Amino acid sequence: MTTYTPLEVEALQAQLGDRPIGRRILYLPQVTSTMDIARQEALAGAEEGLVVVAEEQRAGRGRLGRAWVSAAGLNLSFSVVLYPNRWAVGRLSAAAAVAVCRGIRQATGLEAALKWPNDVLIGGKKVCGILVESALLNDQVQYAIVGVGVNVNHDPSEELEAGYQATSLAKESGLRVSREEVLLEVLQELGLIYWQLTGWGDVWEEWRGSLETLGRQVRVRRGEQVEEGLAAGVDGDGNLLLRRADGSLIALTSGEVTLQV
Ligand code: BTN
Repeated sequence: MTTYTPLEVEALQAQLGDRPIGRRILYLPQVTSTMDIARQEALAGAEEGLVVVAEEQRAGRGRLGRAWVSAAGLNLSFSVVLYPNRWAVGRLSAAAAVAVCRGIRQATGLEAALKWPNDVLIGGKKVCGILVESALLNDQVQYAIVGVGVNVNHDPSEELEAGYQATSLAKESGLRVSREEVLLEVLQELGLIYWQLTGWGDVWEEWRGSLETLGRQVRVRRGEQVEEGLAAGVDGDGNLLLRRADGSLIALTSGEVTLQV
């Protein structure tokens, strides 16, 4: 039987210091699902960045209504409470997937890849699953919970999950891997990416809100080329969306805009 030691939460917390994600870690031996505990905490007003980690989940869940079963004490099962804006909430699952890939690389040197939308694979086998659950109230995001399950020291090679094989960081590296280190790196990366996401979202909203061009008939000159139409909006990359007279919509990356009289 494989032995395990409890997660060293105090040391982890000290290393995370005052970083917004993981400033507070709620460490529990057994839960139904860390998603449930994180949601309860969010509804009770928990501060953003609260991390709920459990050694064992009795009713861990995965995407598409599937169950998530993970070896107690050997892997990582955690959920993070966030309060993103409308723009950022749809990007959380990609953000978490990137944070996990970076975290794995930094903690172990292993290169992970993604299977759409957010399964993290090493050598084609699943090493981590990500689940995002959020709630809207009057078109405002009430909370979002990012749940992450990483196979760290368990050997799941005999198990089949969702039709393909799973692996673990220990199996891929041939070494026992520090769960604390993986969690630390993933939380740090998630914090960096999330800050950019929410920060950019706010800046983008402010920028879009200040664009007096929108809703006006405009002429856009790009070198020799001229486009005319209604400035209908901007996309997430900042391109101008122009509705031509024939009804077609085009995205313009650059150009000199003049208002039409
Ligand atoms: C998937 O690949 O289907 C997503 C799996 C997500 C599992 C994690 S483990 C921590 C958190 N609590 C849960 O019940 N699920 C997520």
